[in-house]
Amino acid sequence: MNVTIIGCGKMGCAMARGLLKSGLVSAQDLVITNRSGTVPQALEGFSGLRFLTDNRAACADSDFILLAVLPQRYGEVLPEIRDAAREGACLLSIAPGYSVRQIAEMTGNRFHVIRAMPNTPAVIGEGMIAVCENPSVPEKVFGEALELFSALGRTEVIREDQLNAVIGVSGSAPAYFFVFLDALADAGVLGGLHREQAVRLAEQTMLGCARLAIGTGDAPSALRDMVCSPGGTTIEAVAKLEEAGFRSAVIQAARAAMEKAEKMAGK
Ligand SMILES: NC(=O)c1ccc[n+]([C@@H]2O[C@H](COP(=O)([O-])OP(=O)(O)OC[C@H]3O[C@@H](n4cnc5c(N)ncnc54)[C@H](OP(=O)(O)O)[C@@H]3O)[C@@H](O)[C@H]2O)c1
Repeated sequence: MNVTIIGCGKMGCAMARGLLKSGLVSAQDLVITNRSGTVPQALEGFSGLRFLTDNRAACADSDFILLAVLPQRYGEVLPEIRDAAREGACLLSIAPGYSVRQIAEMTGNRFHVIRAMPNTPAVIGEGMIAVCENPSVPEKVFGEALELFSALGRTEVIREDQLNAVIGVSGSAPAYFFVFLDALADAGVLGGLHREQAVRLAEQTMLGCARLAIGTGDAPSALRDMVCSPGGTTIEAVAKLEEAGFRSAVIQAARAAMEKAEKMAGK
């Protein structure tokens, strides 16, 4: 299948690397565009890739066109695709704000449209990618799109009206985790550890917790209880987190991201 990636910043490069490394798409079947015409460092090691600055030429023969530009660029990029891509091609959008219906209308209802929401761990193939179901897309095409997104990490099928919730819970969430990681490392420094060592301890703990949660399938609350022995050190720390409103701060942060995504609709 022929794939075009419009825009090769963080997500465009992550997708290109994932597709090439997994063997899902070969270099000769992949076209990538940006405005500057410079090959991004993240893709320097891959030979035979075609880089273009002309989006129209880039999507002329494509089966799948990934829109990896910021949503602010949709107004200029979608008309280019509308005029140049083959009818029946599939547009993959990973931006907040633009619904399937809006994208379809802006491209003359000539294409299948699938929305998805990845996150930055996609850069190392460890992303969480929520893909919106779309009954008007043929099952085969939807299956192929899911397979393409799986090159970025784990996929989860959702309804489109759940996409803003996904932005709050996984799309924007790497930033929350990194704030937490940084704060925990600060605490380590306060306790007398060297920063590098504190960061390593906190990082491995975060990784181990994610693997433990996924591996056991246990509820987060049950895994928390495993650490909290009666009258011990951990329940003291958990009590402080509750006192400081940590849980509420997390919920409010995610909700703010969801509300912002809602406001971006159509912008
Ligand atoms: N980063 C995240 O955490 C994240 C998470 C989920 C979803 N997303 C979504 O992923 C999409 C891409 O985000 P990103 O973070 O990868 O953005 P980015 O790093 O800023 O990259 C944007 C790319 O678009 C290119 N571009 C801009 N205008 C273009 C045009 N007219 N034609 C072709 N290429 C053009 C830029 O190239 P030049 O510099 O040469 O102009 C750049 O390579 C966005 O819709 C974003 O909402 C991002």
